Amino acid sequence: MYKTHTCGQLTAADAGQSVTLAGWVHRRRDHGGLTFIDLRDRFGLVQIVSDPEAAPEAHAAFEPVRNEWVLQVSGVVRPRPEGMANPELASGEIEVVVSEVKVLNPAVTPPFLINKDEDVDENTRLKYRYLDLRRPRMQANLELRHKVVKFIRDYLDKEGFLEIETPILFKTTPEGARDYLVPSRVHPGEFYALPQSPQQLKQLLMVAGYERYFQIARCFRDEDLRGDRQPEFTQLDMEMSFVEREDVMDLVERMYTAMVKQLVPHKRLLAEPWPRLTYKEAMQRFGKDAPDLRFGMELQDLTAWAAGSGFKVFEDALAAGGHVRAINARGLGGYSRKEIDALTEFAKQFKAKGLAYLAITPEGEERSSFSKFLSPEKLAELKTALDAQTGDLLLFVADKPEVVFDALGRLREHLGEALNLIDPDLLAFCWVIDFPFAFWDEEEQRWEPSQHLFTLPMPEDIDLIESDPGSMRGTQYDMVLNGTEAAGGSIRIHDPALQKRIFKLIGLSDEVARERFGHMLEALEFGAPPHGGIAPGIDRLVMLLAGAESIREVIAFPKNQAARDVMADAPSPAEGHQLKELHIKVDIGKK
Ligand code: AMO
Ligand code: AMP
Repeated sequence: MYKTHTCGQLTAADAGQSVTLAGWVHRRRDHGGLTFIDLRDRFGLVQIVSDPEAAPEAHAAFEPVRNEWVLQVSGVVRPRPEGMANPELASGEIEVVVSEVKVLNPAVTPPFLINKDEDVDENTRLKYRYLDLRRPRMQANLELRHKVVKFIRDYLDKEGFLEIETPILFKTTPEGARDYLVPSRVHPGEFYALPQSPQQLKQLLMVAGYERYFQIARCFRDEDLRGDRQPEFTQLDMEMSFVEREDVMDLVERMYTAMVKQLVPHKRLLAEPWPRLTYKEAMQRFGKDAPDLRFGMELQDLTAWAAGSGFKVFEDALAAGGHVRAINARGLGGYSRKEIDALTEFAKQFKAKGLAYLAITPEGEERSSFSKFLSPEKLAELKTALDAQTGDLLLFVADKPEVVFDALGRLREHLGEALNLIDPDLLAFCWVIDFPFAFWDEEEQRWEPSQHLFTLPMPEDIDLIESDPGSMRGTQYDMVLNGTEAAGGSIRIHDPALQKRIFKLIGLSDEVARERFGHMLEALEFGAPPHGGIAPGIDRLVMLLAGAESIREVIAFPKNQAARDVMADAPSPAEGHQLKELHIKVDIGKK
């Protein structure tokens, strides 16, 4: 037996006990002839002290020991001397006086400190991920992740769900990204696609009569990476039969509410029940379909006001079918020209052509890029509409609606952070519903479903498929947390004839539809029940609960921003004989 106790376990109640511990040297200090070592294992830290007089051999054995060496130590637990207790540590009232030391393994000097949460270049952290993962913060993140998944499993088990695994080697399951393909050796020239989600398989499980399914499912999407996106990530994938939109939303809301109360009791929910917004409302008030409700600064529509305002920039935008909207950045009225220019540059990153402003300085003076064009009445109307007070900065974008929403929505979030308007302990869940069923893809000249191919349109809109698809709403629901899309789901089509009409709408010929989704169409013919589901992202949720900056902080071995595993160096070229077996010739052209 390597250890009688874990390092985090010992308390004052253990004083006098003989114990054996094993772990890593977290920190070493030499002090007045004594050596102090903080020994660390997954369960915590404990202070070991060696005394050259009481145990000369053990003391000598400590001599060469450095950070991250692996030790086994035996000794006796004693209370720390008066005034030396460390209240930050669970074992802070005691120390272990060592009598025997065994070096289980020395360690070379790590490339960064494990015992300090210092800023380290991320690629270095990822290259030595096994060292990075030793850091207490990372261990806490992965422990939280474990607890989230365990909570989900227990909760859904009680609700009558079955956990069922589905294949990784499968056929294209489009969720809007590129597929990862796997060549088949036994079927030359043919490929599996890794699932972008188990969408089709879970629907087929409903046809198979399982009624309530879930899976902690790995999904694969070849898309541009961001802080909240990885090429492979994990979903809580769920599907239910004989349900309506309300049933799915109710179950998920209950489960996540109970989960955060149990696992992160120091966090507060913004509202119970969770607010619900239509897609349109979310866009108009927050400029995005995943609104952050933790602070105000909502967008205001000035389109009607802008007509006849006298400011050409606004009037031209209207003439081109655009909108004028604004936000009131309270307290920024004293911003300098340079600071406003920086905000303008920020907005321009999101295609805004400019950022008109009206500042009311703390001294009550007005500065504006356009107010000279306005009549006093128009100016007064504007200030009333935006509730402008002394010290406020009003920021305006005039453009196509998409550009106005995106630029102002991003600016709002940027300012919310910069102005510290966001309470880090707040969890603002909400639902966004009534999405447009499809968007017109200008480049491809066809309708693109806003969720996926299997989403049911709102029943009252189904008759618009052929006549006015742009006005159709889908049964889709998104769960949003703190401005991040945390889950997406919908009620599905279970009528094969309707599924064919949707395939047709998005421009899939009968032939292509049969080739790609023949199994789905066929299954729907065999008594498919009404069904629906949802898939919350696990990585994103744990990231938000842990207060981490990116999902890479809550994944043991993530890819870097360039989709690379820098530890194992993957992807990497395949051996010639492997390619030959797969009947593959690599042609990467000239570099
Ligand atoms: P959707 O594509 O909306 O829906 O994905 C559901 C949730 O998965 C998470 N997610 C990601 N997390 C990390 N990295 C990524 N690249 C990534 N992409 C998505 C998000 C997102 O909300 N089959 C449907 C669900 C359904 O209809 O039941 C689907 O996959 O949190
Ligand atoms: P200009 O007429 O280009 O000198 O711009 C006058 C002011 O309007 C500047 O503050 C610009 O940043 C701003 N502006 C220009 N185009 C837009 C636009 N499309 N929306 C909002 N403000 C704009």
